[in-house]
Amino acid sequence: MLDLETLVALVKPWARFYSKSSPTQVVVMFTHVAGMLGGGGLAIAADRAMWKARTASDDERHRLLADVESIHRPVIIGLALSAFSGVLLTAADLETFATSPVWWGKMIAFALLLANGAWLQSVERGARTTPVAMSAAWAKLTVSSRLSYTLWFAVALGGVLLTNS
Ligand code: HEM
Repeated sequence: MLDLETLVALVKPWARFYSKSSPTQVVVMFTHVAGMLGGGGLAIAADRAMWKARTASDDERHRLLADVESIHRPVIIGLALSAFSGVLLTAADLETFATSPVWWGKMIAFALLLANGAWLQSVERGARTTPVAMSAAWAKLTVSSRLSYTLWFAVALGGVLLTNS
């Protein structure tokens, strides 16, 4: 098993390069924020539309499900960009982040966001393919979309706390 000391030594060349290169810092941080803005922006707009539709007709819900289906891809791309740049940011100061409760809290919120996203997608798929179960599915979608909305903000807050701690 790799211990922290070994990992810190492994990423040292990157950490040294990153600390001396302002353009690299700009590109990595911009990628991090752009992934959040693009992916998170679309996701929270869809989340809001989803729970607002709890009183809508089945026809309206069907239309919404069809609209939302097309945003999963850009949301996943945004998440992947934030996650990849997040790994680079972490590796730039591994010793600090790996021992930070805030960093671990942010990782737990991020894991919950991914797990909830997978659940949301599978409930949506179920509602599209078995329309009879629409109202039962919508109760789950309301919970899941509210959770997703909250978790996006929790992960962003975790990041700001990291930068300012
Ligand atoms: C939904 C995904 C994510 C969002 C919305 C997000 C959001 C943010 C925000 C808003 C900041 C503060 C930027 C600033 O104040 O300029 C930040 C910083 C940071 N994030 Fe993330 N993040 C995400 C995923 C990740 C992941 C997966 C990791 C680690 C693998 C990570 C690691 C970091 C680190 C280490 C910092 C601090 C960088 C520094 O201060 O040098 N983030 N994040």
